[in-house]
Amino acid sequence: MTNADSYQSWRERKLARYPRGIDELMVTLPDSHASAPAELDAVHQALQRTNFALYRLVGSGDKASLVRLGEQFGLTRLDGNLCSDDDSVSSIRVVGKRRAGEYIPYTDKPLNWHTDGYYNRMDRQIRGVILHCAQPAAEGGESLLLDHEIAYIHLRDRNPEYIRALMAPDAMIIPPNVQNGEEIRPQQGGPVFSLDANGFLHMRYSARGRNIVWKQDSATLQAAKCLLDLFHSDSPYIFRHRLKAGEGVITNNVLHARTAFRNSAGQERLLYRARYFDRVTGTENRDYAES
Ligand SMILES: [Fe+2]
Repeated sequence: MTNADSYQSWRERKLARYPRGIDELMVTLPDSHASAPAELDAVHQALQRTNFALYRLVGSGDKASLVRLGEQFGLTRLDGNLCSDDDSVSSIRVVGKRRAGEYIPYTDKPLNWHTDGYYNRMDRQIRGVILHCAQPAAEGGESLLLDHEIAYIHLRDRNPEYIRALMAPDAMIIPPNVQNGEEIRPQQGGPVFSLDANGFLHMRYSARGRNIVWKQDSATLQAAKCLLDLFHSDSPYIFRHRLKAGEGVITNNVLHARTAFRNSAGQERLLYRARYFDRVTGTENRDYAES
């Protein structure tokens, strides 16, 4: 499948089975060592349609149960980043003056559209993510989700050159992370869209302008603008959900954003986030080759 016809048939299948509402993607799971086959199947089906599934965990929903949940879906290789806890699972909450406080996720501000780990080295890209809500904020903190395959379709439908531009290995550079004169992460260049070894589409992206240096050619810049326009549109493919305590999302690192929130005494937002070098297993193979 390397031509326009195969793309069109994949596109039609994808859009025809796309859910109309986020309720179709919610699965109730037990907080146990093993979910029933029907529950696993429901999660896999959601991931096949949209690259993410929402779950409602019946039970404690502690960090250990999150790790067990990931294992049931082939997510085992955790990425421990600068801000994660000792078990490589990050506790996302508003923090004061720690290192983590310098990053937007650890504030109550809105979080712009991105995929996780876009600044990682290309051989350490994040393929799977679990985001679990231990406690919601008093107000706000809504999650926005957009399947990156839909973003790909959106761009390719408007101009296939956009895809070619964003698959170029020099499309997007993430500047180095320098704090107090010390470089704690080097500059990282790479494509926005790439295919993994099994032909699955991967996306590395941030809508925060200061985080990105785009290749200065017109196709790349127009493609970046086209993506921003999509995020600011009322696209029916953008799903919104405010995670309740015990709910979470398991994703093949789809595009996501977060609205601002407000904590109150006794009602402070706490999310656990596990990032993996693995993609969720059990999803069908695809082919996104250019026309
Ligand atoms: Fe994220």
